[in-house]
Amino acid sequence: MQHLVDTDNFSDAQLVNIFNDAKEFKKNMPDKLLKDKLLVTLFFESSTRTRSSFEIAGKRLGASFVHLDPSKSSTSKGESLEDTFANLCAMEPDGVIIRHEYNNTPQKLANRELTTVINAGAGNYAHPTQALLDYFTMLEHFKTDSLEGKTIAIVGDIVSSRVASSGIRLFTRMGMNVILVAPKPFMPNKDLPKYEKLDEVIDRVDIIMSLRAQLERHKAPIFEDYREYAKEYCITKERIEDRDILILHPGPVMRNIDISDEILEDSRCKVLTQVKNGVFVRMAILKELLLNS
Ligand code: NCD
Repeated sequence: MQHLVDTDNFSDAQLVNIFNDAKEFKKNMPDKLLKDKLLVTLFFESSTRTRSSFEIAGKRLGASFVHLDPSKSSTSKGESLEDTFANLCAMEPDGVIIRHEYNNTPQKLANRELTTVINAGAGNYAHPTQALLDYFTMLEHFKTDSLEGKTIAIVGDIVSSRVASSGIRLFTRMGMNVILVAPKPFMPNKDLPKYEKLDEVIDRVDIIMSLRAQLERHKAPIFEDYREYAKEYCITKERIEDRDILILHPGPVMRNIDISDEILEDSRCKVLTQVKNGVFVRMAILKELLLNS
């Protein structure tokens, strides 16, 4: 039984398979490879893209879904998460897709070896499917099968971001240069080049990944006025000019704080391509986990 807690659960060969399959699925919709599979989604935090993307990916491959709403399930009656999970597993699903506020929840459930556990976002620790779809979007954009030597600047609330955590581990594994750009309260304690101003590195980057300030994770407000923050960190036309830089963002985008309206319309900005690719990449991931492993 293989789980996906973070991308290091996949070998290099599996990653190659996943990116090849995703590319193929984008060209030709495949057969219903997962028609006998049943997946449960268990999202303890809100989600727009990730949950629907998993469901659409699974359904494109013929899988069935059961969605458990934790606010209406027995965890809200005091049942432990472990017990809720064990009860769900007694009904023999082929996998549980989980999002949870704690960093270690997916690993803890995976250790029970009751079903395939797929991490759809855990605390600020990992969001592996987002990292894989971001990497795929970069491969596709640069029309290459390796991003070795490419430089990505991750800009924004990096310390709160599981997208950044998983991305940093995957991108460095793949030989990319990762630069962190953030004001001090948003900067994690990681051994990577760190800058407070994007302007200092703008001429060195091939890709900018902008991130939202995750206000819901801040114990106390960090900036009083995000318009002030935006003056330094918003990705605007004035800041990137006509440089050939790919702009990514995992969503949800805070318009004119993370990325300006104008840049969201710019062909260099691939936010909706990321969402589109997310389905193909998750199809490939589900196939790898449920059929190949
Ligand atoms: C992110 C998440 O939940 O980690 N969104 C996503 O899954 N694409 C980022 C966020 O909420 O800002």
